[in-house]
Amino acid sequence: MSPDHVIVRAPSTIANVGPGFDVFGIALAEPSDRIEVRRTDEPGVRVEAITGVGAYAVTLDNTKNTAAVAAGKVLEMAEADFGLAMRIDKGIRPASGMGSSGASAAGGAFAANLLLENQLNMNQLICCASFGEEASSGSRHADNAAPALLGGFTIIRSYEPMDVVRLEPPKALGIVACLPEFAVPTREARKKVPQKVPMTDVVHQVGHASALVAGMALGDLSLIARAIDDVIVEPARAPLVPFLREAERAAVDAGALASFLGGSGPCVAAFYDRDKVDGLGIARAVQDFYGAHGVECFCWVTTWGTGCERVQE
Ligand code: HSE
Repeated sequence: MSPDHVIVRAPSTIANVGPGFDVFGIALAEPSDRIEVRRTDEPGVRVEAITGVGAYAVTLDNTKNTAAVAAGKVLEMAEADFGLAMRIDKGIRPASGMGSSGASAAGGAFAANLLLENQLNMNQLICCASFGEEASSGSRHADNAAPALLGGFTIIRSYEPMDVVRLEPPKALGIVACLPEFAVPTREARKKVPQKVPMTDVVHQVGHASALVAGMALGDLSLIARAIDDVIVEPARAPLVPFLREAERAAVDAGALASFLGGSGPCVAAFYDRDKVDGLGIARAVQDFYGAHGVECFCWVTTWGTGCERVQE
């Protein structure tokens, strides 16, 4: 019998991962959103409550709330004869570059599918979640929702039809996610993305993106470090994130393999080798750098993680 009430954990994610704008994403072990969904007799999706970090910035409107839109798409695609009510507890701050809207969209879609006894497959769920992202940012990117649903490192091979490849990153790959106190709404950051790029930049980007995939597949941390470079999108967005380059430099000087803008920012992400380097040292270096400029910065010293999962409480 299908459940009529579920609680799911939906993880934070870092999209783009250097050269993979709108294509690459990686799930983090923490932080995460918690979404509680209950079956109702009335059709449609009702958002009953939003709590947690930055909850005031998240709408209850079910035509704009990412989790509600994604869950509604799942009900529609599966031709469900019921509706649902949801309560969202945000663990991931909106406008952080850590996949806050993507986690809620993924969690909403995943929870709705549990009530449907998993009628939809993962590519369908990612597609539904991408509609949630569109409601929030104006664009149907899925590079946060895909790793939030699948865990690990994901590659969006195609949006139409949705086709996502998942790779298991190396065990030793640690991640430091540093969140300075600025907010960068994805909708605004997307306006900065260049619409035309020189072929030399395309060649650079394809080479680095291909090498990053190879590094993930081969478990080669040194190749991953060499492959993280974005000459197209991050430079265009850097003016939105004060001290981005300097903060990245502080992370690398403290031993990170590579440091890059998390999603559309302002998160400054760093990869490190857990067998060789203390991630806390990287976090402290970035925090100290921002502190010296009067900016508060919270850091998670974590690893890559699993996708959405049902939790029992
Ligand atoms: N690929 C998206 C962007 C991710 O960079 O706009 C948003 O977190």
